[in-house]
Amino acid sequence: MQTATFDALRGPAGAALLAQASAAYGREDEFALGTRLRRTHEPDLVAAALTQARLRARAVDKFAPADAARMFFTVDGYEQATRVAVARHRAARLAAALGPGAAVADLCCGIGGDLVELARAGLTVTGVDADPLTAAVASANVDALGLTASARVECADATTVDRTAFAAVVCDPARRGGRGRVFDPDAYRPPWSFVLSLLAGTACVKVAPGLPHERIPDGVEAEWVSERGEVKEAALWSGALAADGVRRRATLLPSGATLTDRDDPGPVVRPLGGFLYEPDGAVIRAGLVTAAAALVGGGLLDPSIAYVTAGAAVNTPFARGYRVLDTLPYDVKALRRYVREQGVGVLTVKKRGVGVEPEKLRAAVRPRGDRSAMFVVTRVAGAATVIVAEPL
Ligand SMILES: C[S@@+](CC[C@H](N)C(=O)[O-])C[C@H]1O[C@@H](n2cnc3c(N)ncnc32)[C@H](O)[C@@H]1O
Repeated sequence: MQTATFDALRGPAGAALLAQASAAYGREDEFALGTRLRRTHEPDLVAAALTQARLRARAVDKFAPADAARMFFTVDGYEQATRVAVARHRAARLAAALGPGAAVADLCCGIGGDLVELARAGLTVTGVDADPLTAAVASANVDALGLTASARVECADATTVDRTAFAAVVCDPARRGGRGRVFDPDAYRPPWSFVLSLLAGTACVKVAPGLPHERIPDGVEAEWVSERGEVKEAALWSGALAADGVRRRATLLPSGATLTDRDDPGPVVRPLGGFLYEPDGAVIRAGLVTAAAALVGGGLLDPSIAYVTAGAAVNTPFARGYRVLDTLPYDVKALRRYVREQGVGVLTVKKRGVGVEPEKLRAAVRPRGDRSAMFVVTRVAGAATVIVAEPL
């Protein structure tokens, strides 16, 4: 979509067309809808309206439905936008640290996923994006969501922005190249050197969850965030935004439960007890498995594997608990016999730290009965072992 077409979509005729397209989208065959709309409107404008209608329908996965229905998107902008729960968490943390009305620059604001929540959290936000269409879409979102009193958007190269007037800077560098997602921080746009210059001041920079820990600069806190058990992102917090003495943090949404390396007593390895715990992905990424183990009064099953064992059932948001029912050596014949004798027909296989393919193992043991079971294949005291477990 060209910026001029997007501008036309925001004019009175374009807005009426978009309303028509959005109302009919999903109810009418898209091809027929396009043909009908093209009888009275320019093809470019119809294509732009249909793209918006399609993206608005999709956007309920990331945004509140009432916002998704009013916002504007580009395909790339939608895909790169921060999901609302994560953006809200980050914005609330910034607002709590900086105070109401503080001036914040959202460098690399995209279509405004973070920008919108920063403004709603009571901050005064200037969004900056180098792409003219993306910046226009972000500006339209500020307008559409009634946030013009606290947010504005500029089209500029973030690396040239004068940052002196801002209490803090937020930056979400582009992590996509021509061939999809970019995992190497040196390939971020703007580059890692710019990220480091931001982190020398008061900043919050979003990074890929796989960021190697050794990349975290001294004095900077790294926070891994999961939503409903799925790791969504990591962010680096510096200056006035970093918590005192915290290097690594795992935060779970929607609860907001948070665990840090200050809660970590260090590695304790224990023999398998009556309970097994599988830490949340954010806890694992943050290297806080032993902190989660301490919370359940347990230890690691193996120093290099992210399973925790304990003697008691403890309810914690940071790990999913299982009761250990049986342990078996990893021997396919013995496992097949177990499955037959127990009448297991539905078998869930989890594995960690062993070169086992769950699908192949499931096929090899031929589950046929009426009962269900879970096999956790891992190393116990150095040997591949199957722990038969049931969720608490
Ligand atoms: C990951 S997206 C930001 C998503 C945003 N946080 C959101 O929630 O919608 C990264 C954005 O950075 C922009 N960008 C890349 N290099 C830039 C630069 N040097 N200056 C400003 N923006 C840049 C891209 O155009 C892209 O829109």
